[in-house]
Amino acid sequence: MKPIQVGLLGIGTVGSGTFKVLQRNQEEIKRRAGRGIEITMVADLDVARAKAEVGEGVQVVNDARAVIANPAIDIVIELIGGYGIARELVLEAIAAGKHVVTANKALLAVHGTEIFAAAHAKGVMVAFEAAVAGGIPIIKALREGLTANSIQWIAGIINGTTNFILSEMRDKGLDFATVLKEAQRLGYAEADPTFDIEGVDAAHKVTLMSAIAFGIPVQFDKAHVEGITKLAAQDIKYAEQLGYRIKLLGVTKRKAQGIELRVHPSLVPSKRLLANVEGAMNAVVVNGDAVGTTLYYGKGAGSEPTASAVIADLVDVTRLHTADAAHRVPHLAFHPDSMSDLQILPMSEVVTSYYLRLRVADEAGVLAQVTGLLANAGISIDAVLQREADEVGGEGSTQTDLIILTHDTREGTLNDALAQLQALPTVLAPIVRIRKEELS
Ligand code: HSE
Repeated sequence: MKPIQVGLLGIGTVGSGTFKVLQRNQEEIKRRAGRGIEITMVADLDVARAKAEVGEGVQVVNDARAVIANPAIDIVIELIGGYGIARELVLEAIAAGKHVVTANKALLAVHGTEIFAAAHAKGVMVAFEAAVAGGIPIIKALREGLTANSIQWIAGIINGTTNFILSEMRDKGLDFATVLKEAQRLGYAEADPTFDIEGVDAAHKVTLMSAIAFGIPVQFDKAHVEGITKLAAQDIKYAEQLGYRIKLLGVTKRKAQGIELRVHPSLVPSKRLLANVEGAMNAVVVNGDAVGTTLYYGKGAGSEPTASAVIADLVDVTRLHTADAAHRVPHLAFHPDSMSDLQILPMSEVVTSYYLRLRVADEAGVLAQVTGLLANAGISIDAVLQREADEVGGEGSTQTDLIILTHDTREGTLNDALAQLQALPTVLAPIVRIRKEELS
């Protein structure tokens, strides 16, 4: 059978990795896919660089629409990124009857409903394994491997940049700004790292996982997104003393009232595997009612790890290319007419436990005041740590840090209690609140 023909839009880091791995492993890939897979056309604004990447025999153009218009192309890989031109091109490729493979988490988390509906109507596939956790086949696991399960929750370290920064902050006791500069110097963090450090990239990814796990539409706009920019080195240190590490987690949980969908720094018990995922690595924990807890670990970014996911999608599309569209795996794991109407819960309804740090006056009765107020709010305390005033504020200090771990409580209840605590004259600085996930 003649090879399936692929057009590539954007040949940057991931595109060139995809080209190289496809060439290097072409024989094995062909034996798996049942026919050859060839990138025969590439569109990139930098034609000279693109030509140098792919060599002779591949048509290189600077107009992505020329790839979409080429009737010989069966699959379009979109590696441009962003929500703008990428959205137009993906929709145009679908309208032209092409299957689409993309690594674009931002596009699918925001415009997924429109894109999947268009693909469904046209009978083509939109595959996006590379959009979540790079080389880790988490989409495949959620959509197919765990299909027997009622998935209960997912928690993941799904942004390598922030995990690298947090690992360095913990290892070296440095503050966020210093480590960010170092990460940029080493090329771990982008020149504009906003999407990573503010939690947006992780929120795109957990939005996609949540949709597949629970059969709900992609709803990035309802995700709670909090990054690591305000995290202080001292909280990482206190958390460690209490047996926890702080990670930026993407969390989604099924609750009776709805779905939790959130990204924020979280304390994780140091003994959990997830707490020991260091540097730029990614890991996702999925809990299903039948299988229990499963863990997926690997490189969440980089040229060939991400290419590994892109090519897995190319093989899937090649195998199913001629299958009746109704017999393919649905884009979001559930058939479009069988989606759940479970709503995303507001943060005030999320139930979790908390780390609180209060800078207080070191006076008689302060601890009793604080714990009494929490008791009145029905918030149960799990652990308390108080440092000696001298250790916190230097010789003769009259202030100290009071660290409290709570048991599970509704976030709305905690917010009310925090407002009352903050108003106490003995509480001397803004209270630090970090959520905690036991992941048991
Ligand atoms: N910027 C992402 C990260 C990789 O740092 O993990 C691409 O999603």
